Amino acid sequence: MSIQSMAAAHAAGKGSEPDSVFAVVAKIREAKKLPGAEAIIDGSIGAMRNEDGSLSILPVVDEEYRKLPAEDLMDYAAIAGSPEFIAAAIQYTFQGFQPAGTIAGAVGTPGGTGAVRLMIANYLDDRETALIPDWHWAPYRTIAQESRRRTDTYAMFDEKSAFNTADIKAKVRQTLERQNNMLIIFNTPGHNPTGYSMSQADWAELIPFLRQQATASGKKVIVGLDMAYADYCGDPREARRFLGMFTDLPENMQVVIAFSMSKSFFIYGMRCGAIVGFHPSAAVMRDFANIHSFSARGAWSNGSRGAQEILAKICGDPILSARADQERRALAELLSQRAAIFTDEARAVGLRVLPYYGGFFVTIPVKEPKLTTEKLMASNIYLVPMTGGLRLAVCAVPKNKMPGLATKIRAAQKELEG
Ligand SMILES: Cc1ncc(COP(=O)(O)O)c(C=O)c1O
Repeated sequence: MSIQSMAAAHAAGKGSEPDSVFAVVAKIREAKKLPGAEAIIDGSIGAMRNEDGSLSILPVVDEEYRKLPAEDLMDYAAIAGSPEFIAAAIQYTFQGFQPAGTIAGAVGTPGGTGAVRLMIANYLDDRETALIPDWHWAPYRTIAQESRRRTDTYAMFDEKSAFNTADIKAKVRQTLERQNNMLIIFNTPGHNPTGYSMSQADWAELIPFLRQQATASGKKVIVGLDMAYADYCGDPREARRFLGMFTDLPENMQVVIAFSMSKSFFIYGMRCGAIVGFHPSAAVMRDFANIHSFSARGAWSNGSRGAQEILAKICGDPILSARADQERRALAELLSQRAAIFTDEARAVGLRVLPYYGGFFVTIPVKEPKLTTEKLMASNIYLVPMTGGLRLAVCAVPKNKMPGLATKIRAAQKELEG
């Protein structure tokens, strides 16, 4: 037969490139069937593991979920989410740092992914471009392609590994010259894949600039904040403090946030999150709820009712909230200990690592990502190759497997780069 695909022209070839993470995962699955599997270092997948390799969860979430009546697990959720869920998603996102003089709103989504999809679909026109960091979570590009949008990248770091506000400013200016809507996505704090968290100084430089660009251009300026890892960057409240800096925005500027329960409540598979936004105008926030609810209806209809109930229940109960915070804090502490073992050794052996302040991943820039990962696989070390570097999921590697890892990566890099 000569026909290879029945897809319409725009869908031709979709999905034919293997996902770089899942390609490594398939190799690990094979390696785990062989003798010596216990020596494997699996630094590929972005789910937190305990020291014994089992999946990390918050026991309070597990217990409370199992107590929910059948109706709360199995009935439809409201399209935008229940009022209690919406209130909880807003409260959890801001933790006291909603900018003064604004009205906040939220619409439930299947994870942060759904929220990013709504940002890209509803704040850009057909074929307009979203600005994303050069080091990024690959689905940003997939989501843009799915929504018939494009992406362009800003350089996150300059040659001294300092945050590159100059390139961001240049890209914002160029984009505003070219199109009517500007969406720039920042994945902070605890950026995937580097672990960079934008500082108050980064924001103190960028917010006035973005304000000024919105005012001068008169175009719609949207700041998209992907905050999937906000709970793993030191004090979770302090990590949100920068949100309070978005005050006195011109009316043609808005901040929209992707909130995810996947990492914050360790319920990746329950698919729950929200798009959260704020603006001084009630009319704009009514429109925010309408447009995103409409798109939700047209894409996935409604979210997972049980997961929404859990957020409302935990956030609405100080005892349950305190338990969740304490259980999460223990895992955040473990994550930071693992990262510290790796980054301390990297420093000692001269392995360059991009600035890490928190989150699930560390990035090691290398010239030959594919070859370096293949070389490391021969020593049972599985990392994800990306353009320009390797991603190490510190969330998945126990402390006892961390010592020696940086040294081995440095040795593989030296062999390939000289
Ligand atoms: C940077 C980033 N954003 C968003 C997400 C969204 O995840 P989810 O859809 O499970 O909430 C992830 C998950 O890996 C991520 O790494």
